[in-house]
Amino acid sequence: MGFTAARPLCHGCTQGEAGSAQAPNSRMSAIVQFENVGLRYGLDSETLSDVSFSLASGGFYFLTGASGAGKTSLLKLLYLAQRPSRGVIRLFGEDVVTLPRKRLPGFRRRIGVVFQDFRLVPHLSVYDNIALPLRVAGMEEGEIDAPVSEMLNWVGLGDRGQARPATLSGGEQQRVAIARAVIGRPEILVADEPTGNVDADMARRLLTLFEALNRLGTTIVVATHDLPLMTQVGGAQMMKLDKGRLSDPTGSLRYPPKPQVAG
Ligand SMILES: Nc1ncnc2c1ncn2[C@@H]1O[C@H](COP(=O)(O)OP(=O)(O)OP(=O)(O)O)[C@@H](O)[C@H]1O
Ligand SMILES: [Mg+2]
Repeated sequence: MGFTAARPLCHGCTQGEAGSAQAPNSRMSAIVQFENVGLRYGLDSETLSDVSFSLASGGFYFLTGASGAGKTSLLKLLYLAQRPSRGVIRLFGEDVVTLPRKRLPGFRRRIGVVFQDFRLVPHLSVYDNIALPLRVAGMEEGEIDAPVSEMLNWVGLGDRGQARPATLSGGEQQRVAIARAVIGRPEILVADEPTGNVDADMARRLLTLFEALNRLGTTIVVATHDLPLMTQVGGAQMMKLDKGRLSDPTGSLRYPPKPQVAG
């Protein structure tokens, strides 16, 4: 499965349904594996220690823990913005710690990221920010308008397409960041506090978007403090970080599904 922008996520779908009815967790091979991963910034003590877990392809995961516990740090390792100080990280079955630098962009394109601080491109319009992953993936210009317009409407910004990010509220910028992360239907979606700036109704709506993406096969990892939000996704697993160490409240991370055997 490649990074595909050919079939837009929400084109023609209504809230709560999108595309095929593939059940979550139906494809159970490990897409992410961490083994005894440690992360140290400079000479400080370790921010993450002995982090080991596997994520099943097609799973939905919440990452929780107190402020400063290391959630963003763990996600940075996952979306390849940071290398660990020790341990092994495998993405899509390949060791990404020893991967040659020139191969990193290819891996990064398979991962959609909602950054905690949004990181929209300031000189591009809202529309062009959302269209960016489709253009990077080489989609024809004529094919771009329908999915981008639909995504703009989905996140409630149908009339703000030509605005610059700096003129939007925090919650509006967050919705643009989410639209940009999901539009290319990445294989993994990593979202860092994606509902931290929106009201409860919009948070539910955005979660519906993540669930739609998940039904299409994307593995979802959402860092959040929002406990009510976590209870909304049936079948989601929870990972908890406590001072840089991972606990496994549901037990499923210690005993991940066995990788599928080909043939
Ligand atoms: N680039 C960095 N350099 C040095 N220390 C860092 C860096 N990034 C994070 N830290 C430290 O690592 C620890 C974990 O930070 P991190 O941002 O991962 O926590 P978090 O769980 O995401 O917190 P929050 O809920 O507030 O977003 C903190 O003590 C922080 O100061
Ligand atoms: Mg954080």
